[in-house]
Amino acid sequence: MKLTWLGHAAVLIEGSVNILIDPFLSGNPSAGLTKDKLPSIDIVAITHDHEDHLGDAFEIAKEHGSTVVAIHEIAVAAQEKGLQAEGTNIGGEIEVKGAKIRIVPALHSSYRGSPVGFLIELDGKRIYHAGDTGLTMEMQVIGMLYPPDVSFLPIGSRYTMDVLQAAKAVEFTKTKKVVPIHYNTWPPIQADPEKLKELVGDKAEVVILKPGESLQI
Ligand code: NI
Ligand code: MN
Repeated sequence: MKLTWLGHAAVLIEGSVNILIDPFLSGNPSAGLTKDKLPSIDIVAITHDHEDHLGDAFEIAKEHGSTVVAIHEIAVAAQEKGLQAEGTNIGGEIEVKGAKIRIVPALHSSYRGSPVGFLIELDGKRIYHAGDTGLTMEMQVIGMLYPPDVSFLPIGSRYTMDVLQAAKAVEFTKTKKVVPIHYNTWPPIQADPEKLKELVGDKAEVVILKPGESLQI
């Protein structure tokens, strides 16, 4: 399976199905690719409807015939635009095109519904995308029940966790690998991913990607 960080919070999972999370590509100064370069996308997953996450989601879903997966209220908004969408809510798991997707709480805000993170099980691997969130004790539930193989955690501070909180989130979730995201897109969210590496130590492998770079698992 190939996991690509497309800059900011956008992540592309390529396995038996292709899943695109929070595709903010147009207008993203750190975008790893333009949307016309994407492979065929089966599922578009949206953590919350802030512009830097909803991004090009609906346009891409329309163009690729993808299924939108999001919290109920955003799924309804997608359906109202004529898109195929599967709504879910905190704690529940849905199976879409062979991918098992569970949404988990994110401590943040949003216009519609609650902001969430995703736990995705595909091809025998579990991937956690935290969305925008502060550190929350709820992450311990992930560690207890669903420890991820790879987690994408925000570290940019101001709107989300900083490196210190993200290092604690690594402990809480018991993730094997962590890829820092949601930093250095703009000046207010500057962060040093090497500091995360120092703080995490040998608790997990910190994989620092540049936008457009991939990790194979
Ligand atoms: Ni946000
Ligand atoms: Mn954000």
